[in-house]
Amino acid sequence: MLMKTMIEPFRIKMVEPIKLTTREQRERLIKEANYNTFLLAAEDVIIDLLTDSGTSAMSSEGWAAIMRGDESYAGARSWYRFRDTVKDIFGFEQVIPTHQGRAAEHILFGVLVQPGMIVPNNTHFDTTRANVEYNGGVALDLPCAQSRDADSDFPFKGNMDIEALEKVVAQNTAEKIPLIMVTVTNNSGGGQPVSMANIRQISRIARAANIPFYLDACRFAENSHFIKRYEPGFENTAPIDIARELFSYADGCTMSAKKDAFANIGGFLCTNDAQLAHRERNILILTEGFPTYGGLAGRDLDAIAIGLREILDEHYLDYRLDSMRYVVNHLCEAGIPVVTPAGGHAVYIDAGRFLPHIEPLRYPGQALAVELYIEGGIRGVEIGSVMFGLDPHTGVEQPARIELLRLAVPRRVYTQSHMDYLLEAVGAVWARRKQVRGMRIVEAPQFLRHFTAKFERLQ
Ligand code: F0G
Repeated sequence: MLMKTMIEPFRIKMVEPIKLTTREQRERLIKEANYNTFLLAAEDVIIDLLTDSGTSAMSSEGWAAIMRGDESYAGARSWYRFRDTVKDIFGFEQVIPTHQGRAAEHILFGVLVQPGMIVPNNTHFDTTRANVEYNGGVALDLPCAQSRDADSDFPFKGNMDIEALEKVVAQNTAEKIPLIMVTVTNNSGGGQPVSMANIRQISRIARAANIPFYLDACRFAENSHFIKRYEPGFENTAPIDIARELFSYADGCTMSAKKDAFANIGGFLCTNDAQLAHRERNILILTEGFPTYGGLAGRDLDAIAIGLREILDEHYLDYRLDSMRYVVNHLCEAGIPVVTPAGGHAVYIDAGRFLPHIEPLRYPGQALAVELYIEGGIRGVEIGSVMFGLDPHTGVEQPARIELLRLAVPRRVYTQSHMDYLLEAVGAVWARRKQVRGMRIVEAPQFLRHFTAKFERLQ
């Protein structure tokens, strides 16, 4: 019989106490943190939804693998286990370990991007954008039309706009486009998946124009399971085989093992181009380490090898996607504006519609992040005009395309009662939303300002 109650498909073997705080304490703490959730001490957070990156719970097998870690400088046993697992799932010939995803991006874009070049993506994550721009390139977002309609229930809102891509490719020489990238799932675009059909089309365009096609593969397993659930023809395909097909259309990938590998640190860069890999390894040695460990300890390589297998477990992926859907459905039922359908790793509250009286450059997403912390000690992150509003080269500030508050859920860390607590806290802020005021930035750096910007609350 099919049970109606969804359970976490794991037991808890070790716990980490949560320090509970009062509302008065949190009012003081967020003020001391200059109203920036990144500047809070983690200890002062009750439910930490700042990121799903590096925050997952490892399994007993993962911890056992940590003990097996071989810390030899070169050719460690851990390296071979890591490399063989990556090759088996991702299928690329060259595997380059890095300490996390952005290190892979830094190497890849450093080698391929020259000033004035264009890198199209469905939506660049902030570190890919910053790495492209740091090398003088243009990070071009080409999200599909459905992604702009918050109410559309199109299941693959992470797709790239194919016509727009064709236009960019037709209007520029291949030399001007060093690679085309697609982010699965589309994190900054609402955590939405990309369909296999879309990947095939992009691959065809890239191959016809002789442009390398890369996947930003951070959440490849969640994306694969969305394909299984919603794309006709994949109902009976195992997530690992969907992932293999996904990667078969690409020439390489960047990966953060801090997401869909359950690891607390790690990443890698893959390619089928041996010459390119040679150039990348030269930089790797300067910045990360010897090519058989990258910036990682042997034990980390082993943990990633285990995590990459565990993440593709269908029962786990069912639970993961269902638990995100549980939160999104309850928010929808309460009339709270949220990006639908539910994504794979985070809930994106539409702060622009939650707080319509706050204009974009008064940062409704930031204001909502602050209120949710005060209300329930819950930490999320703004994805809107604080993160994307400033052009670092011109210094010109413009409203972002969308104002979101992202609540990213670490893997296997929180239970359903934590999610119920979250729903209660969001509901309480919703009830007093008309009193919420906007914010002003009083101090911020040029790049990635959301990390350290200091804010003031407007009266
Ligand atoms: N690409 C995407 C789509 C990401 O979400 C991230 C990280 C990276 C690349 C960079 O990987 O952190 O290992 O260097 N995203 C985290 C987040 C930080 O909170 O979404 P990294």
